[in-house]
Amino acid sequence: MCGIVGYAGPRDATDVLVGGLKRLEYRGYDSAGVAVITPDGSLAVHKRAGKLGVLERDLQRSPMPQSATGIGHTRWATHGGPTDGNAHPHLGDDGRLALIHNGIIENFAPLKEELLAEGAEFTSETDTEVAALLLGREFGRTKDLLSAFRAVVGRLHGAFTLLAVHADEPGLVVGARRNSPLVVGLGEGEQFLGSDVAAFVQYTRRAMAIGQDQIVAIRPDGIELTTFDGEPVQGEEYEVAWDAAAAEKGGWSSFMAKEISEEPEALEQTLLGRVHDGLVVLDEIGGGFPDDVLRSVDRIVLLGAGTSAYSGLLGKYTIEKWAGVPVEVELAHEFRYRDPVLGPNTLVASISQSGETMDTLMAVKYARERGARTLSICNTQGSTIPRESDAVLYTRAGPEVAVASTKAFTAQAVALYLFGLHLGRVRGVLPDGESRAMVAELQALPEKLRQVLTQGDEVREMARQMSDTRSVLFLGRHVGYPVALEGALKLKELAYIHAEGFAAGELKHGPIALIEPGQRVFVIVPSPRDTSSLHPKVVSNIQEIRARGAYVLAIAEEGDVAVLPYADEVLRIPLAGTMFEPLLAVALLQQFAMELAAAKGLDVDQPRNLAKSVTVE
Ligand code: F6R
Repeated sequence: MCGIVGYAGPRDATDVLVGGLKRLEYRGYDSAGVAVITPDGSLAVHKRAGKLGVLERDLQRSPMPQSATGIGHTRWATHGGPTDGNAHPHLGDDGRLALIHNGIIENFAPLKEELLAEGAEFTSETDTEVAALLLGREFGRTKDLLSAFRAVVGRLHGAFTLLAVHADEPGLVVGARRNSPLVVGLGEGEQFLGSDVAAFVQYTRRAMAIGQDQIVAIRPDGIELTTFDGEPVQGEEYEVAWDAAAAEKGGWSSFMAKEISEEPEALEQTLLGRVHDGLVVLDEIGGGFPDDVLRSVDRIVLLGAGTSAYSGLLGKYTIEKWAGVPVEVELAHEFRYRDPVLGPNTLVASISQSGETMDTLMAVKYARERGARTLSICNTQGSTIPRESDAVLYTRAGPEVAVASTKAFTAQAVALYLFGLHLGRVRGVLPDGESRAMVAELQALPEKLRQVLTQGDEVREMARQMSDTRSVLFLGRHVGYPVALEGALKLKELAYIHAEGFAAGELKHGPIALIEPGQRVFVIVPSPRDTSSLHPKVVSNIQEIRARGAYVLAIAEEGDVAVLPYADEVLRIPLAGTMFEPLLAVALLQQFAMELAAAKGLDVDQPRNLAKSVTVE
């Protein structure tokens, strides 16, 4: 939430900042602003409510002066509505210092009282302005931006990334982070700061993660990294695994369309190098989870939020089946507020695309404090959650820019499946033959997914016909249940339609009362080949809702003719093992939600009120 960019170097700072903000806009799009230090030693600031495009148009009409130092921000509002006045940057009293912020300053009220008593004037309703005014005043005393910044940051509580510049110190941008993301881009004669690497990957793929409670100062010729107390620290440098083109829309109508199309490749990448002789071997988690530790695990808790929690539900089914360990899935934001029972043999695995979701991060920290071992399943290199965990299993879906998660979901599920197979092998509970068969299914998934995605036109037509629909229900059973939940979430967040996902068996316990003539219901139909005979049960559920007037949209395996008499429309998925079909079915529901939103003329990539990477609680 909120995108942050900083730059010091020979390029035109405004160009770099606006370019970076474009690639970070998914983090918030209520307002945007930039501040640069001009050659005559003053500060130029421009900020506007609305999407980045509003600011860009203003800057085309009246360009900022050429500059080599600056900061830029794109906002997801917390304190104060999305107005020009509340947009960042915020300024010190004399207008020579600018500051931007991501997060929440929890003690802003007493600090504001203090500033008001000293005669300060506020021009916004934000918590951020407190930090800007404090910093401006501290600079007045010290005449040194870095030491003033250190003094002010030490007074703030809560979660924050802050960047600041002062007109008296051209060529310097200072940044601090606590429980909120910030990375450095290391260039030749130029340095960058960003909420994530997308902000600068166009210029450099050399990055450095900033640790908790650290302050960084960038100048064109280098960086200085310290703790909040000023102790020097050594940063961890890494090479970004993808290039700028991966975060561009290319010829696609939306990032979401592009990212759905990339799902097969995301799965291939996530499998890469993790299968040896037909079996899953995850050496990379061996540091935190050597085999003897994995053998002693007696319980697994999977933590995540939203889509990531739903991939966790898929993981529960597979890990329990293949590794024989009890698995609970819990929403990260509920977990740490209810005294969960955690023992030394509890493995807590968090699932997060961004690696920065505050709810998940806090839950991981809490689990560690309580003695649990933590594994991170994450898509973002160098992000906070993996760094706070004992081991990490990266999904390799590449950058996900659309706010609604798609390829990250399927890649997370595959990573969990890999973990389940690894665990089952290490614990000796899954015979190699069975393991190899599951691995073969996993390896066949990308190609099957490619086939599924060829039904785009059909899905679009289905969505167009439903553009006036006000409510859609989703039913699934067993591994189809998480798919129903995810299908409903996608539709809610993208098309603003009431949508609910249910376990099909739950229907008769209440939700069936919702069925009235014409009610649209997606049903994820299990394979008729499955031996647990769920297929006939789901077909019975379809008949029950049809009898009450529901309009049934079935997602069924190729060749499943049993659904035909009862379904109004059928989308097909290729034959795959029971555990794998959900990953094919979900892609159709992602496409459907996207197409319905598009048919309603909505912004598919940036749905209202949302932002990617939720870094506030
Ligand atoms: C929905 C969606 C969200 C995220 C959730 C967790 O499409 O994207 O529900 O899944 O905010 O985010 P991460 O995975 O970054 O922790």
